[in-house]
Amino acid sequence: MLLPAAGYGERIGLGPKAFIRVGGKSLLEWAVEGFGWADEILVALPAGRGFELPIKTVVGGTTRQKSVFNLVQAATGEIVLVHDVARPFVVRSAVERLLGEVRQSGAATLAVFVPDTLVQAQEHQYGEVIPREHYRLVQTPQGFRREVLWQAHLNAQAGGLEFTDDAQLVLSLGHPVALVEGDRRMFKVTYPEDLLLAEGLARVWNAWPQPR
Ligand code: CTP
Ligand code: MG
Repeated sequence: MLLPAAGYGERIGLGPKAFIRVGGKSLLEWAVEGFGWADEILVALPAGRGFELPIKTVVGGTTRQKSVFNLVQAATGEIVLVHDVARPFVVRSAVERLLGEVRQSGAATLAVFVPDTLVQAQEHQYGEVIPREHYRLVQTPQGFRREVLWQAHLNAQAGGLEFTDDAQLVLSLGHPVALVEGDRRMFKVTYPEDLLLAEGLARVWNAWPQPR
């Protein structure tokens, strides 16, 4: 289980996101607890930052991809999951669906349907409507055979390619990546208002801690 947690949270502006507290816990603690069942958890932290839990850490890089590179290099399992620490609420049933697919095909990501009308912005004007049924919003965790993910990272590094998620890296090797239905509760805390949503969901999680 690999947790890139080395981002600086610039869009929220409250310091490194992993340490922002929601419902009495840091985002990092939420994610670590959500994967408490994993054989191994590795976290990439911003340089100079530590973490109070007894968990293996590596130093993050200047981009998400570089942070994940450092994590994969230190990982040992045959299958690895990569999960943004910015997604504090881990829905176990979705992760099980993902793992089932990864064991079969070697690479998969959670993704959800697009709930709203999707339109191209032409300057500030309403442009062409995109058929949303053909699109998905990509979440994490994403899961891979470790060897495939490592090759993809080496390949991207050699070619100077930079991607926003690991599915793109693996696809750029020519390896297909399956889409597995995710869960909207695994949303990414990105903007300040997402913290309000997270506070609300944290109350539900804290009141109802059994696996979902
Ligand atoms: N991340 C990382 N190393 C980086 C950049 C990002 O490990 N150099 C991680 C973040 O900690 C987060 C995940 O990648 O868990 C997704 O990134 P994002 O939501 O963009 O978080 P930040 O980069 O922290 O936020 P921002 O882009 O607003 O600065
Ligand atoms: Mg970022």
